[in-house]
Amino acid sequence: MITERERSDRDFGMPTGALAGGASSPVRVGAAVGGAPFVQVSGRGAYAIDGTGRAFVDYVMAYGPLLFGHAHPALVRDLDTIAARGTVFGATTHDEIRLADRIAAYVPAMERLRFVSTGTEAMMSAVRVARAFTGRSLVARFAGNYHGHFDGALHDAGASAGVSARANDVARSGIPAGVRAASVVARYNDLDDLDARLGGREHELAAIVVEPIVGNMGLVLPQPGFLDALFARARRYGALVIFDEVITWLRLGLGGGQALTGHRPDLTALGKIMGGGFALAAFGGRADVMGVLSPDGASFTGGTYSGNPFAVAMGHRTLDLIEGDPTLYARLDSRASRLAAGMRSIFAVRSLPYAVTQLGSMVDFAFRAGPPVRNYDERQQADRVAFAAYYHAMRDRGVLLAPSANELMFLSTEHGDAEIDATLVACESSMAALRERRIV
Ligand SMILES: Cc1ncc(COP(=O)(O)O)c(C=O)c1O
Repeated sequence: MITERERSDRDFGMPTGALAGGASSPVRVGAAVGGAPFVQVSGRGAYAIDGTGRAFVDYVMAYGPLLFGHAHPALVRDLDTIAARGTVFGATTHDEIRLADRIAAYVPAMERLRFVSTGTEAMMSAVRVARAFTGRSLVARFAGNYHGHFDGALHDAGASAGVSARANDVARSGIPAGVRAASVVARYNDLDDLDARLGGREHELAAIVVEPIVGNMGLVLPQPGFLDALFARARRYGALVIFDEVITWLRLGLGGGQALTGHRPDLTALGKIMGGGFALAAFGGRADVMGVLSPDGASFTGGTYSGNPFAVAMGHRTLDLIEGDPTLYARLDSRASRLAAGMRSIFAVRSLPYAVTQLGSMVDFAFRAGPPVRNYDERQQADRVAFAAYYHAMRDRGVLLAPSANELMFLSTEHGDAEIDATLVACESSMAALRERRIV
């Protein structure tokens, strides 16, 4: 029997030493696509650079945070001047208060908010606050929505958590049965399924947790009326609505997904882009709801690195950069729509029946015939063999995709016409190669 360490050394083609599994986050191993995992040495703009010095047009973008690409000069300049003031304090800072105010001005639903370091912490904290406020335990969430790796969010999540063949072996996942019993997981965009799964437990419901625009089963948009119906149910049952905007805030604009969909969730979680490539996240919402937090209330969240001055300074830099560039989102959108249109025409010419979805700087398709994916069940119908072959064909041609069919393509400000053109050339020739091998 091969040990875990032998497996990771073999997969990576190099000693992985003491690093468990060969990666700090399993999706990076690329189990879903096989072959040698991508090992990155550096990043520059839209490019990821490997150990041989080869540059790949990077659509992973660290799974979302790199709105400005790798090592953007405005974000990485003079970091020593920030660090020289101290990188972590055991005290509140003026900059932290100011950053909270800047965020609240753009996301008015976050009347009060608190900083943490990761999206996982932000969502875990939001769920705890909702439970504390309502005095109830049950959480409803949706398959294919990923909220981080805390116990209550992980089982049946699929999405980024679904990369291992044993992802559904919940009994051996280390997540207690009691925790599993405290959530129901329904099909996204399917109110009947939500109602059926809640059946009889509505009065136990603390919160409905949702990615308003989903980025973890590819890109999946809410069907008209779906989010409204979640709010209506939450109001009827005396529960809260939590929007997970860890991907979407700043990716879709300064107001995030909620400004686009026109909703005002009770609680919101933010992360990824906001730290300018450093670990910074936040959760917040209605002032009365956030009032359950210690020291005023009985619910505790905290963290040695929460609101640390270094990450907070990066948060200010990120907002400065966005505020200083009024055409930023229009530019991102037009490049992404050019990429999506190019892919659509490549597919049309070859009679490939795959729907390309694009919203802002996110682009996606699945190897599945029919209209855009609406839920995780549909996403799982996509042809995994074809995706794995496509991933490697694109990588051979200098384009780096996330090594999982549940991910999407993230563009950055650094993905210009040259990168889009190169990607379309690679896409066309990869599809031709797949057709030759009778994979598509
Ligand atoms: C929507 C969403 N929520 C939460 C998380 C967890 O964030 P983190 O990986 O920073 O803990 C992720 C991470 O991919 C995410 O996509």
